[in-house]
Amino acid sequence: MSGNLEHRTAELSAALSGLSPEQALAYLANEFEGKIICSSSFSWEDQVISHMILSQKLPIKIFTLDTGRLFSETYYVWSRTNEMYSTNIEAYYPNASLIEEFVTAKGPNSFYDSVENRKSCCYIRKVEPLQRALKGNELWITGLRAEHSPERGDLPQIEFDHTNNIIKFHPLLHWSTDDLRAVINQNGIPYNTLHDKGFVSIGCQPCTRAIMPGDDFRAGRWWWEDKTSKECGLHAHS
Ligand code: ADX
Ligand code: SF4
Repeated sequence: MSGNLEHRTAELSAALSGLSPEQALAYLANEFEGKIICSSSFSWEDQVISHMILSQKLPIKIFTLDTGRLFSETYYVWSRTNEMYSTNIEAYYPNASLIEEFVTAKGPNSFYDSVENRKSCCYIRKVEPLQRALKGNELWITGLRAEHSPERGDLPQIEFDHTNNIIKFHPLLHWSTDDLRAVINQNGIPYNTLHDKGFVSIGCQPCTRAIMPGDDFRAGRWWWEDKTSKECGLHAHS
């Protein structure tokens, strides 16, 4: 089964070449109807992708992983998006027993104490719910962009994710931040107002801060950790 999907990745790469992101999404929605899903953290890239999906009324389910620790601005853009497009972004939550046990044992802010705790928190609040969201699907659309980090710079636009046994497509991989801003402004797309305050990559409130001009894109994520890779485990190979 996964062999077939992996094999299809190469064929799709050829089929999508030359298509705009809107055209590619429409093509994939048709090819994978009922088995295609898009993850959104309500970042500016995710909002542009959601706009492309919702304004074309494509049959692609959009979901978010609500970690329980998001910014109030993020919840605001989520509800504005539901209103504006008359939709219901699907919410996934951490498994209640896992998070209760973890927070009881370690306290609410243990991610600051060790990388191990931080990874456990990300696993419980994001990775395990993601696995449930992806289940039964064959194609996963994300807002990853090459500009985010050197690792993401090397990604192919369509790839097979061996960890999750799913094809991943990154429609805006080669877009710049200015490209995103232009489309958001032209179309009046709701966006997270933290982007106007120096936040570029926005995750959970306790683990995200604004960056200074010239800093790395992901410098505001888990900034207290002395490490080179700023990933939480959602994107195993990125
Ligand atoms: S992360 O790996 O650091 O958490 P990042 O914030 O760069 O991810 O976002 C990259 C892509 O991962 C987003 O475009 C989106 O597809 C997905 N993503 C990240 N966080 C979430 C979330 N909370 N809910 C759903 N998708 C998410
Ligand atoms: Fe937990 Fe921070 Fe990871 Fe959010 S980003 S899941 S609060 S460690």
